[in-house]
Amino acid sequence: MTHFLDINKTDPGDLRHMVDHAIEMKTARAGLPKGTPDAEQPLAGHMVALIFEKPSTRTRVSFDLGVRQMGGQTMVLSGSEMQLGHGETIADTARVLSRYVDLVMIRTFEEEVLLEMAEHASVPVINGLTNRTHPCQIMADVMTFEEHRGPIKGKKVVWCGDGNNVFASFAHAAGQFGFDLTFAGPETLDPERLFLDEARAKGVTVEIERDADKAVANADLVVTDTWVSMHDSQTARERRHNQLRPYQVNEALMAKASPDALFMHCLPAHRNEEATDAVMDGPHSVIFDEAENRLHAQKAIMRHCLGV
Ligand code: CP
Repeated sequence: MTHFLDINKTDPGDLRHMVDHAIEMKTARAGLPKGTPDAEQPLAGHMVALIFEKPSTRTRVSFDLGVRQMGGQTMVLSGSEMQLGHGETIADTARVLSRYVDLVMIRTFEEEVLLEMAEHASVPVINGLTNRTHPCQIMADVMTFEEHRGPIKGKKVVWCGDGNNVFASFAHAAGQFGFDLTFAGPETLDPERLFLDEARAKGVTVEIERDADKAVANADLVVTDTWVSMHDSQTARERRHNQLRPYQVNEALMAKASPDALFMHCLPAHRNEEATDAVMDGPHSVIFDEAENRLHAQKAIMRHCLGV
């Protein structure tokens, strides 16, 4: 069973193949209307369940479109409308879905839900985001970097802000793809040490720097994310904003990075909070390429999981 649960749980050779394959598939359909089927139809006859226990625009639309382009069919399910949200166990849900569909993508809160789904499903399960990680996003981000700047191996990536689930998958990717990673944020919002230690154990440099200006020196890529994630308490909003304001990505901060540094944000953004309009719409920004590349990267992930 080939699940895609996290970047650190996937073989580096398979990750490399998926990024390269995603770029190939994107190139092969360049300029075609979005609904045009791919020349190859590897998901013909396949049914894919897309389960959402949290809101989504990019993940929902890109997975749905990707399956259709590859000849498969989708059913989009809301967790609250399933028996899963009303007391049926995750294990039974996984066993039942495995009788109906060939692949499950789930966006959920606790990582344990994803892991239990994968343990009891007899079809592949893909992590569409948990409170802990967001691997599909970072596969698209690696693809986006490499499309613009070539191999990410050996480059310096700087994360400004909250040590959240998106950062965690960047830390996994640092170890697997071989890039250096600096976390710039307040101590109170540090990422789990485990993510940093695991990447360091794979031979890359992972640093924590409290001064955002120092952190971005020589950065090849500057990344940020919303200051209050979907699973964070809204009562903590003001405190988080106060702590994170020094890490806002604005033109002055980007000017301290390498002249050809890229800027990324997985979106949705709170414009002029974590990043200013001038940066989000400026010359360094590749945020909409990242969003598009969710489609191509996830098509490669689904083909990897299904072996097609
Ligand atoms: N970046 C991301 O996962 O976007 P959605 O929440 O819209 O799916």
